[in-house]
Amino acid sequence: MSVHKSVKRVTTHVLSEMKLKGEKIAMLTSYDYSMASIVDQAGIDVILVGDSASNVMAGFETTLPITLDNMIYHAASVVRAAKRSLVVVDLPFGTYQGNSMEALSSAIRIMKETGAHAVKLEGGREIVESVERILSAGIPVMGHLGLTPQSIHKFGTYVVRAKEDEEARRLKEDAKLLEEKGAFALVLEKIPAKLAGEVADELTVPAIGIGAGNKVDGQVLVIHDMLGINQEFSPRFLRRYHNLYQEIKGSVQAYINDVRSMDFPNDKEQY
Ligand code: KIV
Repeated sequence: MSVHKSVKRVTTHVLSEMKLKGEKIAMLTSYDYSMASIVDQAGIDVILVGDSASNVMAGFETTLPITLDNMIYHAASVVRAAKRSLVVVDLPFGTYQGNSMEALSSAIRIMKETGAHAVKLEGGREIVESVERILSAGIPVMGHLGLTPQSIHKFGTYVVRAKEDEEARRLKEDAKLLEEKGAFALVLEKIPAKLAGEVADELTVPAIGIGAGNKVDGQVLVIHDMLGINQEFSPRFLRRYHNLYQEIKGSVQAYINDVRSMDFPNDKEQY
């Protein structure tokens, strides 16, 4: 039987077994109890409480403004819903980069106050001290390389990263370093499919891609994007499974019409 079918709870160990057996890992974001319940019951392997909450839940242009308290609120709601999936929570911008002790206390707050199973940090060699410090407390760490949205002001644009040899070489080194230090998995965002495949082949831990092609060990998408709730965002890598924006808008318009025409509530819908 395949690994993901035989487990009651997905753990970091289950993910490494899935990589060993060549089973692809499915990961999606969620930020609230109701959505996370559906995602979990549908059988997702990993729920990421991403700092993309800053964009899709709070309406900010970047992921930078979201706070640790905000992330804890979202993560605690998701954890209450997740019966089977592994819940990974993004450490938000400014809570881990400059100081490994601060990184540790941010990660401890997430683990203690939400009940999540792991944290995710963006970056390579420059955050390795924070990664080591968090791991030393027994907290599993997922890495994130390539297009790291918390560095958008350094990049200046959301275009594909690591197309040039020098950046690709550095990314490979960072991936190896994070694995050596003990990261249990990596997200590779918006890099060439060939490079992502090479990184996945060189690592023993799973490499999960977003805009990184199909030669990696799994895929992750932002749930609002794949359900078509968020209309403005349509990069090439995104597959939309629904047009919920139109569905929800149509339902709201039907409700407004029913209220105005006094069709709702009807005789059967009252006491
Ligand atoms: O915050 C997020 O949703 C993420 C994914 C895009 C990987 O980091």
